[in-house]
Amino acid sequence: MKKATHNSIFILLFLIIFGCGKENNKQDISGKMENVHTSDYGVMPKGDSIKKYTLSNKNGMKVEVINFGGIITSLTAPDRNGKYEDVVLGFTKPEGYFDGNPYYFGALIGRYGNRIANAKFTLDGKTYEINKNDGPNSLHGGKEGFHTRFWNIEVVKDAKFPTLKLSYTSADGEEGYPGKLTTTVFYTLTDDNALEISYEAETDKPTVVNLTQHSYFNLSGNFTKTITDHELQINADHFLPVNETLIPTGEQKAVKGTPFDFTVSKPIGKDISADDDQLKKGKGYDHNWILNGKGLRSIAKVYHQGTGRSMEVFTDEPGVQFYSGNFLDGKFDTKTGGKNEFRTGFCLETQHFPDSPNQPSFPSTELKPGQKYQSKTIYKFSVKK
Ligand code: GLA
Repeated sequence: MKKATHNSIFILLFLIIFGCGKENNKQDISGKMENVHTSDYGVMPKGDSIKKYTLSNKNGMKVEVINFGGIITSLTAPDRNGKYEDVVLGFTKPEGYFDGNPYYFGALIGRYGNRIANAKFTLDGKTYEINKNDGPNSLHGGKEGFHTRFWNIEVVKDAKFPTLKLSYTSADGEEGYPGKLTTTVFYTLTDDNALEISYEAETDKPTVVNLTQHSYFNLSGNFTKTITDHELQINADHFLPVNETLIPTGEQKAVKGTPFDFTVSKPIGKDISADDDQLKKGKGYDHNWILNGKGLRSIAKVYHQGTGRSMEVFTDEPGVQFYSGNFLDGKFDTKTGGKNEFRTGFCLETQHFPDSPNQPSFPSTELKPGQKYQSKTIYKFSVKK
């Protein structure tokens, strides 16, 4: 008995002195319940080690972020019984992200989110050729866009809620873009179950910038199910029709009377198979909606009846790319078993319009030295009983 008591005291002392391991190494933010845990995530083929940062709030919601691509690898949200489940698509193993992440799962997208026609644009009379990675076009910043880069991550110590500050400096000429671009992104998890994303950038030469986040959501928490039963509402009276390579034609078309009318909530699948030229071109929805209003405002709501989960999106951007996961092709395993099949996730990528550098009638995406690029988007989760 005596020996057993001695052993217990020894073990207790050991735990007090050396802590309980890295995973449990809580970092208390402003003395509150919220916290950030840091852990090892994986090792890149060339030996670089990747860290994972887990943000938690007082309700038990968790968001996991890695310093490769600023990728959100997991995000939990409550169902109507209070059960928190992962609602973002991702790979089962780190290699999925390191080997190119062809779907851009969870990633920060830059320097230019969405497409630039024929991978070129002209600024101040000079034409820049950027890297092509989508037929004739450049998509999501090129082959080695921001989704493939190492981001420096710091935990913001004086923040009200758990906050990560991610920084990346894109060299002048990277992927063909002019100007050294210093980029900062903040991820904050609030106590009302909202993930707030703030983007900032500065340049030393005129350039173009359009930053976004490419998380795919499936509010059912089961990644083998399609998202066509999710009900979606978008506050937009107009959308941007596209050509065969998904470049906007320049027309700003009224959604009224078309399958693109989400002004009143309806299931994503309701009109997705309609005989419509634009739906054929996008293989479903893969278009930019011109959001009503200005400033930080509620722009979209999604509701999954089966679980009661609902998500509201706020942004100060003029547009949102609603993409119904039409290129998901079952090549990879999902985190809940099975494969990532056609339309098992959707994205609401807040942004300026695609191909803005070549379309003078669109809001400008140009950033000049001395100016500060700033934008904010919030994904807020709640439950409808
Ligand atoms: C964006 C595009 C889609 C597709 C996905 C990635 O959302 O608009 O066409 O390229 O990224 O698969």
